[in-house]
Amino acid sequence: MTEAAEAPAPVRRKRVQGGVATADVVLSAHAGGNADLFPRILALHVPDGAVVADVTYGQGVFWRQVPPGRYRLLASDLSTGTDCRALPHADASVDALVLDPPYMEGLLRPKAETRGGQGSHAALRTYYDAGGGRAGPGGGRWHQAVLDLYLDAAREARRVLRDHGILIVKCQDEVSANRQELTHVQIVTGLAAMGFYARDLFVLVRPNRPGVARLLKQVHARKNHSYFLVFQKVPAGQDPARYRTRDLLPGA
Ligand SMILES: C[S@@+](CC[C@H](N)C(=O)[O-])C[C@H]1O[C@@H](n2cnc3c(N)ncnc32)[C@H](O)[C@@H]1O
Repeated sequence: MTEAAEAPAPVRRKRVQGGVATADVVLSAHAGGNADLFPRILALHVPDGAVVADVTYGQGVFWRQVPPGRYRLLASDLSTGTDCRALPHADASVDALVLDPPYMEGLLRPKAETRGGQGSHAALRTYYDAGGGRAGPGGGRWHQAVLDLYLDAAREARRVLRDHGILIVKCQDEVSANRQELTHVQIVTGLAAMGFYARDLFVLVRPNRPGVARLLKQVHARKNHSYFLVFQKVPAGQDPARYRTRDLLPGA
């Protein structure tokens, strides 16, 4: 008998696929409000126990359905004295950061009489602006003021986030001065140049139909959706275009 004939036949193990069949997954498009969607985004992208700085905390609507104590929340806002472009946090000290500044140029106009959110829209001003939100000195005008605020805040977010940290940005596109401004594209492009990887994107659709007070002729689609963009901080020296999604381990 040869040696080969004596060798035991290799055991062929059946390959077992892991995971469970389910439809209970987080979807990229959602009809509802910020308070419904935000906790699902956190659950998917930010591990329990993470230090999360919400730098435009406003009225804390995002956090209404987040179980208390799940994250270590550092809440701040311009209306309580902290500009998201100059945070008090140390370099590389937070795991995740949430940014939701005013997304419409009308809310950033310097003069109160021409600023958005007048009369019956006062609630809008209260929610989106909270008494702060002017463009900084030297900032751009009109839509550029909106973009400058997002980009300057993202630069500061990059400083305080640790490597591979998560940045969640809320935004909405706008038509400003008869120009279609795809803010979410501008933010993705601007943040890629800063060293952020676009890890996920959520579309939030308003459940009710927005009304129009005085319509003469419709030119652009009326926007009834907004975005949550999820970025990950690519360590300095690495190419964001080659970065792959990786887990964020708190305290790692
Ligand atoms: C859309 S609201 C945020 C709503 C908030 N996410 C919530 O859940 O209630 C925008 C907020 O950005 C704040 N804000 C505007 N400019 C800011 C700045 N430069 N730094 C920090 N906060 C700013 C406003 O005061 C306002 O509270």
